[in-house]
Amino acid sequence: MTVGEKEKTVIIGVTGGIACYKAVELVRLLVKDSLAVQVIMTRAAMEFVTPLTFQTLSGKPVATETFNLTQESEIGHINLADSADLFVIAPATANVIGKIAAGIADDLLTTVLMATQAPVLIAPAMNIHMYENPILQENIRKLRRIGYHFMEPAEGYLACGYEGKGRLPEPEKILEEIRSLLRKKDLLGERFLITAGPSREPLDPVRYISNRSSGKMGYALARAAVRRGAGVVLVSGPSAIEPPSAVRLIPVNTAAEMRRAVLEQFPECTAVIMAAAVADYRPVDASSKKLKRGKAPLDIRLEPNPDILRELGRRKNGKLLVGFAAETEELIANATRKLHEKNLDLIVANDVTQAGGGFDGDTNIATIVDRSGASDSLSLMTKDELADRIYDHLLALKDKHSDGNS
Ligand code: PMT
Repeated sequence: MTVGEKEKTVIIGVTGGIACYKAVELVRLLVKDSLAVQVIMTRAAMEFVTPLTFQTLSGKPVATETFNLTQESEIGHINLADSADLFVIAPATANVIGKIAAGIADDLLTTVLMATQAPVLIAPAMNIHMYENPILQENIRKLRRIGYHFMEPAEGYLACGYEGKGRLPEPEKILEEIRSLLRKKDLLGERFLITAGPSREPLDPVRYISNRSSGKMGYALARAAVRRGAGVVLVSGPSAIEPPSAVRLIPVNTAAEMRRAVLEQFPECTAVIMAAAVADYRPVDASSKKLKRGKAPLDIRLEPNPDILRELGRRKNGKLLVGFAAETEELIANATRKLHEKNLDLIVANDVTQAGGGFDGDTNIATIVDRSGASDSLSLMTKDELADRIYDHLLALKDKHSDGNS
């Protein structure tokens, strides 16, 4: 990730725990994300994984020894400290956390950490009783107060045989946190209301009408907004995706529930982005009992759901409104019509017939259209990338508005 300018460098400090194997995958993901990665290993870490593994994946010699003359002349611990845009320790043992909290710098990792001015992210991994130990907890509180970032360990089966909190979070989660810490916070002060996923309109207690939306687009928007410093309320139809921890999630089922939640949150937000695939119709009478199978055809009467976005467009009150348009024909014409009918600032036109675009996958293909008729036709990209492009457009629009008002 270059975040618009120079390539970012992340130092990954690896300390001695069984979760070292997950740090290997983390380094692979970071390199895949176009980040420069420099690994520093403690002696104990090298008991679990060899430096060669990290060197092969990062493409850089692994730094291990403060007093190794070759390493010091080639890399230099101060150079290392200065090169970092972010310093991550994953996994972090109770021992290293204790040393950092006490100001001890007795090996390369703790020495470079002491010298760096980069933000620091620590991902502890250890036995549950070690994690709960009040000394460790006090050390974490102390470091948090100083400004160190911590990730909560995950819960589950621990290598020591216990069940509970102490697992290193999955590498994808750590990557997410790293991206967030590296990202320019250009959405600070914004409060986004984002909708995601499908609505489910019940026919009876066990059946419903719904659509193929997975929530991926809306959750990608929520992740990107948090990364860039915005506050996020995510109103989501049923989805299997875990939201970022900084997001306030309001789970809903039906369009009516989504409408209620959105209208309640609307006054507090600065912008709304509706990526949800809200059902346009719902059964007139949902049966309170399971419908019985019969020989005759079953007629179900549907009535229109309220159009949530159109309602917001009527009471806009200076907020930016972004809609999505899932289309199978006349993409731009239909999307532009919805933009004006619903009084939106931007619409993301989604041709859902194209491979790699629309429902369920990790990628999308979209054209972003504004009220002037200007459009930005984007090629296939991940939903995370598209989310960032939408925010870039929103920021440009805000700049244009504030220029117009000055
Ligand atoms: O969730 P994914 O699997 O990642 O899929 C992503 C997506 C295809 C669902 C997403 O990219 C998308 O296109 N979402 C909008 C789908 C849709 O309902 O489009 P529409 O053209 O029917 O609605 C236009 C806009 O009005 C949408 O912003 C919609 O949220 C909103 N709407 C629609 C109906 C309704 N009753 N109330 C609304 O507010």
